Amino acid sequence: MTFFNQLKERYEEGKTLPQEFYTDEEIFSDEMKKIYFKQWLMVDHVSRIPNPGDYFLFNAEKESIILIRGRDSQVRAFYNVCSHRGSRICLEEEGTKKLLVCPYHAWSFSAEGELKSARYMPDDFKMEDWGLKPCHINIYQGLIFINLSMDEPMDFNEFIAPLTELVNFHNPEKAKIAARRKYPTKANFKLVLENFQECYHCGPAHPELCSVHEKDWVFTMGAGLGTAPEKETQEYLKKIQPWIEDCKTRGIPSKTYLETKEGLSKGLNRYVDRTPIGNGNLSQTKDGKPASKLMGQFKEFDGGLSQVSFNPFSCCYFTNDFGVMFIFKPLSILQSEVELIWLVNEEAEEGKDFNEENLTHIWDVTTAHDTTIIENNQNGLLSHSFSPGVLSQNESAVTYFYDWYFTNMRLP
Ligand code: FES
Ligand SMILES: [Fe+2]
Repeated sequence: MTFFNQLKERYEEGKTLPQEFYTDEEIFSDEMKKIYFKQWLMVDHVSRIPNPGDYFLFNAEKESIILIRGRDSQVRAFYNVCSHRGSRICLEEEGTKKLLVCPYHAWSFSAEGELKSARYMPDDFKMEDWGLKPCHINIYQGLIFINLSMDEPMDFNEFIAPLTELVNFHNPEKAKIAARRKYPTKANFKLVLENFQECYHCGPAHPELCSVHEKDWVFTMGAGLGTAPEKETQEYLKKIQPWIEDCKTRGIPSKTYLETKEGLSKGLNRYVDRTPIGNGNLSQTKDGKPASKLMGQFKEFDGGLSQVSFNPFSCCYFTNDFGVMFIFKPLSILQSEVELIWLVNEEAEEGKDFNEENLTHIWDVTTAHDTTIIENNQNGLLSHSFSPGVLSQNESAVTYFYDWYFTNMRLP
């Protein structure tokens, strides 16, 4: 029996995972291969690279991917690995380049990934055989997704299908990046993801988020439908029914999507819902007032919040007037990074229509607090006295996350 299977035997449903899941290097390496490199990962918004030659790097675990716009305006993704002897080619996180020149022996590549120059090569060397290795990429509504699988990845259209109706309504394709922040987190990526699967911690840890939302939203919907006891959930759904009906009348999507058994069996874990922020608030801001111009197909403010989760590594929140992209990255076994990108209507102007501090306030303080509680969690979990604890009735999505995790680890 493998070490992983022995550990899995020690996992008891309703409890957290045994310590070694967070500390064993071999397990981490398997998780990258079986989970992280197989998912369609949301990495950024196209407005980051508007012109030919604009590029940025997406760095996670040992991988570095160059996302670059070609002369034909198409955005492509390449491994940041020179086809000569393997050096990193781009070292700066972003920039604009006509040619990508390797710093080692100066092989140069076009923005379309073709090898353009290599000095003193043998006569039979064919330049066309030595371009950059492409990485799977798809762009949906301005959101860039990559897949780090070395094989054919899961079908993108099938993956995105249940999420398109709501994403289209918010229309991030007509948005632009207003702000971005990174939150380096000294913890195993599973602790980062687990924290995002529950809002049991929201009361004690997130006073700002809790002051914007209604208390029963935080309890029943803060981590998505089905994460609180049935009775409270039904009471909340009954209460917001008139609001949902009103959305339907105005043609605003409000259907919830919970991952199907079939989706889970293929390693998917997608989620969508739309609920009112509550407390009469129109947006997720300190005073509940709008943060910017309306986005997407909204004609007026209705104070709704959409949660769109593509997988546990990639999700978006959309209010009527802005979006926040959440990108969770494993870097090494005990180091992760959370990146937030705020989107506003592409026509919104800073200083006139929005103010960065007001726009970013709620999710910036909330994520900074998350970083602290996740690091505390990691530090305590490393103690030799640690043993798995019992999950509350408000953390059922953590158990669901483990189901998804084990399903993926079993898949070929
Ligand atoms: S490793 Fe890039 S040019 Fe030699
Ligand atoms: Fe949190």
